[in-house]
Amino acid sequence: MPVKKRPEDLRSHRWLGVNDMRSFGHRSRLRQIGYDGEDWDGKPVIGIINTWSEINPCHVHLRARAENVKRGVLQAGGFPIELPAMSLSETFVKPTTMLYRNMLAMETEELLRSHPLDGAVLMGGCDKTTPGLIMGAISMGIPAIYIPAGPMLRGNWNGQQLGSGSDVWKYWTEKRAGNITEQEWNEIEGGIARSFGTCMVMGTAATMMAIAEALGLSLPGASSIPAADSNHPRMCGQAGRRIVDMVWEDLTPKKILTAAAFDNAIKVHMAMGGSTNAIIHVVAMARRAGIPMDMERFDQLSREVPVLANVRPSGKYLMEDFFYAGGLRGLMMQMKDRLDLSCITVTGKSIGENIEGAKVHIPDVIHSLDDPVYAEGATAVLRGNLAPDGCVIKPAAADKRFLKHRGKAIAFEDYNHMMVEIERDDLDVTPDHILVLKNAGPKGGPGMPEWGMLPIPKRLLAQGVRDMVRISDGRMSGTSYGACILHVAPESFVGGPLAFVQTGDEIEIDVEARRIHLHVSDEELTRRRAAWKQPAKKYPRGYGALYSEHIGQADTGCDFDFLAPLGPVPEPEIH
Ligand code: FES
Repeated sequence: MPVKKRPEDLRSHRWLGVNDMRSFGHRSRLRQIGYDGEDWDGKPVIGIINTWSEINPCHVHLRARAENVKRGVLQAGGFPIELPAMSLSETFVKPTTMLYRNMLAMETEELLRSHPLDGAVLMGGCDKTTPGLIMGAISMGIPAIYIPAGPMLRGNWNGQQLGSGSDVWKYWTEKRAGNITEQEWNEIEGGIARSFGTCMVMGTAATMMAIAEALGLSLPGASSIPAADSNHPRMCGQAGRRIVDMVWEDLTPKKILTAAAFDNAIKVHMAMGGSTNAIIHVVAMARRAGIPMDMERFDQLSREVPVLANVRPSGKYLMEDFFYAGGLRGLMMQMKDRLDLSCITVTGKSIGENIEGAKVHIPDVIHSLDDPVYAEGATAVLRGNLAPDGCVIKPAAADKRFLKHRGKAIAFEDYNHMMVEIERDDLDVTPDHILVLKNAGPKGGPGMPEWGMLPIPKRLLAQGVRDMVRISDGRMSGTSYGACILHVAPESFVGGPLAFVQTGDEIEIDVEARRIHLHVSDEELTRRRAAWKQPAKKYPRGYGALYSEHIGQADTGCDFDFLAPLGPVPEPEIH
């Protein structure tokens, strides 16, 4: 049995429980808000870190859901306080939300540190919000529970089910090829996002919500509940009740986030056919928790765990179907022999106890290990002279003929250069060419934008080509697909070998052998390196300049160098 804390052990006691002038000020100001001693005396103060915003359609329900959390906290004898945090709407925040993931992590850590909080409820879901919230909570170290926003309902157009992102790319390509009308394009715009909630394919949001649950940071089954399902507000109330007990039990993230918990999460990522973005976020979260982690671990585990979830963009169905089929508990039950079932979770129970009795109701949505959707895991890590520190491909989402391929490069110096060239009717390109985009990395973007699914050149579209090999130091949306090689490290902006690729160079890819090779001699590469000049920085001042100065490379999780170090976070002095 965990030792229970006493009220005077609570962190908030320093603000509210002692008898001095400062605590008088804190209490009198709570009375100013309308609270009374009954509200806080001897009770854990629970900070609800809410990434709700009116411009984030994925989180628009979180304002109401916070009330469900508060109800739960009150029922369990806690004192809930809601604090807003940066919303990071993937759709609206430019140039890319990845520029701000670490800002949210820092904001979360400092919100928790600077206020009289004993426990935290983290409310997020849209792509970078999940790792941002969790990274901050890990560093702060007080008990925390994560509430996933949940996926939106399936899209619908002309009787067809539409998936976020994936079908946008698909129909935009068809529109560029002249195969759908303006009227049809408008209808798709009205049908693709039918309710609040996150993207409902296995994009970065669904992947990261599942990873958070597999790590043990959410209530069992929470990540699969559609945002608009009444199970969702009930789950929020349960989380509110549970966090109060977690405070008394002192069940902190570091007690949950072991090396085995991260292995479980990576295996679940593989079985889900999850987003490549997860690699960066999991490496960053693990390192915050003091667990040594690199991309190699993903590659090792990808060979052990096949894709089981038949969900787009690698599969056929959508997250709503995944929920009806049994959700994450069902999927984890299918692969229970590959998981460490003894890992402790926010429930205070083990993963094994949490998935007890879980069933798969629709076998075509959640496959078994004997009958996987794709024989190997979701991602493969390649290395070679073009990517000495590694790069990533999602084989399940690529045309299989490109998994072993040699072709001539067409190199673009940056995003704008690429966008002009691919629209040229006279571009000298064949389906066997390899498109190379430079300066899309953590420092070069900056922020590593999701430019990695380079558009198919217009000339090839007209010929019916829908996939080809594309290489960049950027990321791609989890809703994207194709033979895209991403996260090339080190990036071109800092002088990684990608910077020296020229149009006409030959590049060879062998996913089975995990190899990527630029067929240019070492002497020639040395000559090109000597002639290379670093492009100008985009941000001379402000957060962008701070970001460019301190951001790490993709293979290390893109954390800031000053946030990554481990060690206790100093408690604020209260004078
Ligand atoms: Fe928010 Fe996709 S835009 S999850």
